[in-house]
Amino acid sequence: MTRAIILSGGWGTRLRPLTCTIPKTLIPVLNTPVIEREMLLLKKVGVKEIVLAVSVMGKDLKNYFRKGEKLGITIHYTKEQSPMGTAGALKLAEPFLKGDNFFMLNGDVILNFNFKALLATHEKYGGIGTIASRLVNNPSRYGVLIIDKQTQKIKKFLEKEQYVCSEEAHNKMPVNAGVYVLEPDIFSFIPPKKKLSIEKDIFPKIAREGKLYHYPISGIWKDIGKPSELLKGNILLLEDVLKKTKDKKENLIVKSANIHPSVEIIQPVCIGEKVIINENCVIGPNVVIGNNVYIEKKCEIKESLIYQEAYFSQNSTIEYAIISDNCHIRKNVKIKGHEKSLVILASYVEVNNGIELHTSLNFPITVCHHEVVRENIIQ
Ligand code: GTP
Repeated sequence: MTRAIILSGGWGTRLRPLTCTIPKTLIPVLNTPVIEREMLLLKKVGVKEIVLAVSVMGKDLKNYFRKGEKLGITIHYTKEQSPMGTAGALKLAEPFLKGDNFFMLNGDVILNFNFKALLATHEKYGGIGTIASRLVNNPSRYGVLIIDKQTQKIKKFLEKEQYVCSEEAHNKMPVNAGVYVLEPDIFSFIPPKKKLSIEKDIFPKIAREGKLYHYPISGIWKDIGKPSELLKGNILLLEDVLKKTKDKKENLIVKSANIHPSVEIIQPVCIGEKVIINENCVIGPNVVIGNNVYIEKKCEIKESLIYQEAYFSQNSTIEYAIISDNCHIRKNVKIKGHEKSLVILASYVEVNNGIELHTSLNFPITVCHHEVVRENIIQ
């Protein structure tokens, strides 16, 4: 096994307006695109060739990864004119993936489990596919896996509407974690040139033949589908990295960051290259700041993700927000999101002096790229 395919061609509608200018899988997680983190994990277990199944904003992914030179992996691309669904995308990669089993991943998942153990389990069971499964408390937005506990075979998939009324709805349930090991035999289950979903159209057929297994994973697992999950995923990873390192500050605050000695850092915090933070700012907890961000004096930032090249004028406060690249927050701005409904500013947004943006539960604030916010928004 030396090959993998990563799906990276969806619209990413739930992350709009961030995904209007950045493809979902290139969205940074602790300042590295979520898909690049997956690629590095795959490289660690010996994967040498990766097919990126691209469609929406495929050019951005190609420009970023090229042929894989930077990562030391060979990257091939398949191209869908419009998204062909997760199985349609896989079918297009058949010429690259013949002959041996391979990993398949959704490109929008933050994880840190051992891919080798997944492969070993798959080879032990001998099925056509093994799905990494994850126990979750509230599986309302995932397909639930019904498993034969004796054989570890997947018996069937319950869609949301099917299990909401069932007793399973109240327990921790295993869901599809979006990571698989597959045998090339899977291609005979996928007709060509059709928009199909692997989860809904293909896996249930293989399960009915008794050839689909699961492998339970633990550790960090979070898909970044929604803004609150994107923030949560960053925080989980931040905490994990800090737990594993002795010198906490060294590890996540790069040396090229220029931080005034009066700045209070409340961990966990991750700060990128060439960031400048001026006097009397308070940064953290749970903050990730991208490269080349400039923060004037007396700003307070907590529970937020700040992407590269953003600029904060003095005396601004930010809480529960995702602020995309090249935004300009002017003086005395107050941004206060809610844990479950964040304030989202897409690329190149400008927020005028003294503006207040407040969300409340179920009423997020989203501002499209290049817009100027001239009036308060209080939800
Ligand atoms: P939403 O529109 O917010 O649901 O996001 P999405 O379009 O990314 O869909 P979803 O979260 O279900 O996708 C899971 C993974 O599959 C992501 O990595 C997507 O990029 C990828 N994906 C989804 N649909 C397609 C598709 O039609 N083609 C390709 N190549 N990838 C896809």
